[in-house]
Amino acid sequence: MDRRSRQDIASRYDGHLQRCYVLGKLASDPVYAATAALLAGSPLPLLDIGCGIGLLGQYLHVCGHQASYFGLDHDPRKVAAGQHAARLAGLQEAIELRCADASDLPSMQGHVLLLDVLHYLPAAAQQALLRQASRHLAPTGQLIIRNVLREPNWRFHATRIEEFFLHASGWIRGGPQHYPDETELRAPLESAGLRVRVESLRGRTPFNSYLLVAQRAG
Ligand SMILES: C[S@@+](CC[C@H](N)C(=O)[O-])C[C@H]1O[C@@H](n2cnc3c(N)ncnc32)[C@H](O)[C@@H]1O
Repeated sequence: MDRRSRQDIASRYDGHLQRCYVLGKLASDPVYAATAALLAGSPLPLLDIGCGIGLLGQYLHVCGHQASYFGLDHDPRKVAAGQHAARLAGLQEAIELRCADASDLPSMQGHVLLLDVLHYLPAAAQQALLRQASRHLAPTGQLIIRNVLREPNWRFHATRIEEFFLHASGWIRGGPQHYPDETELRAPLESAGLRVRVESLRGRTPFNSYLLVAQRAG
């Protein structure tokens, strides 16, 4: 995405700090480009669980993605910011955002996204959400997860320090509850009959972030 498009998206959010956050995130974090590449050309609807300020919906629209986007997040401030940005872009029909907990998913089926969300849930709730998310996949749908994984390396510790400051700043209410390892994420997905692939996805960040893509086998 070019600089101009990043600035257009950032201008739809209120306040200098939030606009700086959006610009920095779009410039340095590869998660949105990786997601757009995986979804390219697919007409299936998207369910973005823990969508935050709805940045992915805006990004996908700029990339020409046509399918409907439904995001939910339990933080009403972020949902309101995302709804406001969608209205300013004239995308209120294409980008639907709702304030809800991840345990309360709508009945749709398509692709399911969990980007940097799971570690804010306790371990048992993560397992339950992964099983739930699998049931919301269309037959050719992809479950796209980006998350920090618990590993014995400095990147994991750098991620924990970042999380401490995110929580202290009030940006993420509740803070991290449990950092999963790869096996914990694979197990419920493979039990649901999904094939899982895992790759590192940290771009120019120092964080221990991975991309997991799960799809029905065959
Ligand atoms: C780090 S942000 C990621 C936002 C977005 N997925 C992105 O990548 O731009 C994590 C989001 O998960 C949301 N979240 C955490 N626990 C949640 C829950 N139980 N139900 C719904 N949203 C939740 C937070 O409010 C926050 O907006």
